[in-house]
Amino acid sequence: MRECLYGYGAIASFWQGKISLMDDLLFEFTEWLRGTPVTELSLWISDTRASEWIAMHFWAIPIFQVIHILSISASFVAVLMLNLRAFGFAGSATLTEAANRYSRVLWWALLGLVGSGFLMIVGEPVRELVNPYFWVKMILLVIGVLVAAAFAKSLAKQGEATGSASGGTKVAGVVLIVLWCMIIWCGRWIAYAPV
Ligand code: HEM
Repeated sequence: MRECLYGYGAIASFWQGKISLMDDLLFEFTEWLRGTPVTELSLWISDTRASEWIAMHFWAIPIFQVIHILSISASFVAVLMLNLRAFGFAGSATLTEAANRYSRVLWWALLGLVGSGFLMIVGEPVRELVNPYFWVKMILLVIGVLVAAAFAKSLAKQGEATGSASGGTKVAGVVLIVLWCMIIWCGRWIAYAPV
């Protein structure tokens, strides 16, 4: 029993060490961001009439959040459906038809995400732009969009050529799911950044 407790204690202190290292890194990142022109830019945005208008209407941010969350759901469903079809677990449409259908959903959802995200930035520029999670999310998003474009394109191509997805394409699909989860996680954690 005592050894077991020592084991748990060692695991807990290992993870505590990792978490505090991550906290320190994020704090350093925020400090660095504060010294960059991003701070001036966000202060300038907060003085614009659009930002003041959003700040004065309490319902504006919640509406942008609803659009953002619905677009997240649509984009994630599209990513999952592309994968389920690639692995042959869902759908009776051909691979090419499924790739075209769900990549269209993904690109429209991304448009909704960019639009609602942009409006939330205008509404609360310092909270969003001087925030380490926001920038990690943006980097992951660029990688995610590139992987999604390549994945959808090769699914459509392989659908026409062989009718089934290759091993490499399936791996890209799983990587895309992981990337999308990380983007969702970073989006939610913007609210809890160590500032
Ligand atoms: C260029 C595209 C995007 C921009 C500019 C953007 C920007 C934002 C902003 C400003 C917030 C508000 C954070 C806060 O104040 O708490 C937010 C929240 C969030 N974002 Fe994005 N985002 C984008 C794309 C995405 C994508 C692709 C995903 C994932 C599929 C995503 C997932 C989230 C999540 C989960 C939240 C938290 C929502 C909540 O709980 O209120 N975002 N995003």
